[in-house]
Amino acid sequence: MGNLTVINHPLVQHKLSILRNKKTGTKEFRELVHELAILLGYEVTRDLPLEDVDIETPVAVAHAKQLGGKKVGVVPILRAGLGMVDGIMSLIPAAKIGHIGLYRDPETLEPVDYYCKLPTDASEREMIVVDPMLATGGSAVAAINALKRNGCKGIKLVCIIGAPEGIEKVQSAHDDVDIFIACVDERLNDHGYIVPGLGDAGDRLFGTK
Ligand code: PRP
Ligand code: URA
Repeated sequence: MGNLTVINHPLVQHKLSILRNKKTGTKEFRELVHELAILLGYEVTRDLPLEDVDIETPVAVAHAKQLGGKKVGVVPILRAGLGMVDGIMSLIPAAKIGHIGLYRDPETLEPVDYYCKLPTDASEREMIVVDPMLATGGSAVAAINALKRNGCKGIKLVCIIGAPEGIEKVQSAHDDVDIFIACVDERLNDHGYIVPGLGDAGDRLFGTK
């Protein structure tokens, strides 16, 4: 079973509360998603392997560390995942970015895929999938399926809010994937929205409603 890490850092929880508020406007919502992505990104990169390196400082040689091992790819699930990309990329600027386009059919709640463009060397990279919302889990499972079809291993999923149903679905479909999340909410409502959640993340990010 992949690990579920709930990041209950005070800054994460504080920012999440403002994000949930229906009075928070698009500009602030976007800034908060960006800031949360940095804070979650700090945790998701915690186990990146290091290698030894000697660095000449102005004073002496420092026996130091630098990132080693596999390179990283960041994969937002469109649209809302786009809001998390810059935050993660500010931590690992050498990462490459893939895009997976999915939307939920409002009737069936099943993900409909419309786009997939990954780095050509995706199968050689650690892939970090980002999406603020993990509701039924259908979109995340479909995105991870797409990565695995392209030969990716070592996949992590980073979300802001999840429903228990979605977490369970990802864990049972992909028991090798670690999930990093700011909060696990109570449940889904009849329309597949997370309760209490924050509403429609894509619409709130891009001002489309
Ligand atoms: C939202 C969200 C996730 C998905 C989660 O996207 O950003 O991708 O729903 O729901 P699920 O876990 O039940 O699949 P949406 O389908 O609204 O598309 P959008 O971001 O383009 O608005
Ligand atoms: N997608 C969202 O944006 N919000 C939800 O609550 C569920 C799916």
